[in-house]
Amino acid sequence: MRITILATALLGAALAASATAQQRPYTPGPQNISLPADWQARFIRYATVDKPDRKIIRNIYINPEAFEALAPGQPLPYGAMIIMADQRARVDAQGVPLRDAAGRMIPEPAFIGIEMQQKERGWGEGYGPEQRNGEWEYARFDAQTGARRDTPLNACFTCHLQARGQQDFTFTAWDYANRAR
Ligand code: HEC
Repeated sequence: MRITILATALLGAALAASATAQQRPYTPGPQNISLPADWQARFIRYATVDKPDRKIIRNIYINPEAFEALAPGQPLPYGAMIIMADQRARVDAQGVPLRDAAGRMIPEPAFIGIEMQQKERGWGEGYGPEQRNGEWEYARFDAQTGARRDTPLNACFTCHLQARGQQDFTFTAWDYANRAR
């Protein structure tokens, strides 16, 4: 009896939660994206990009479900979340980035900026053709607090659209999926 009551209560809570989700129709914008609390423990770092010109190192992570579904020539799956966390490069007295034995730049420990793109079914509706990136949204986060930052994101859309419109609007993710292994 007690089990039935508990199950009924849980079912009620689940229905209430899904009703709340359905009451909020999609509107374009970064408010659709949140930084998953467990991303550092759960996501897979599949790429690291040295940017000597900007003296930063970019660590690029994807959620494991999307990682499993990456396939050559295929768009990324719905539910894909890609997080790019930048670190400052260690530099010498002249400000030139230091390199390790393998020639890679050496990061300072802290993240200085976090950018993210996420793809969900039905997203992207409402952006003009000069901006829309399929079903992707973009957001930027404060690296210390994880809070979404209120900054313009037009450049995210236009650059990813123009450079990677044929690669599902991604750079390292598409390249990783298409790299011969
Ligand atoms: C001028 C072009 C340009 C702009 C503007 C731009 N990006 Fe990117 N983005 C890139 C390139 C190139 C990469 C690959 C990593 C690198 O070389 O820095 C990338 C990689 C990424 C990635 C990792 C996914 C992948 O497939 O590599 C994310 C997430 C991302 N950008 C989000 C954003 C967000 C959010 C903004 C806006 C705040 C933004 N980008 C603005 C060019 C751009």
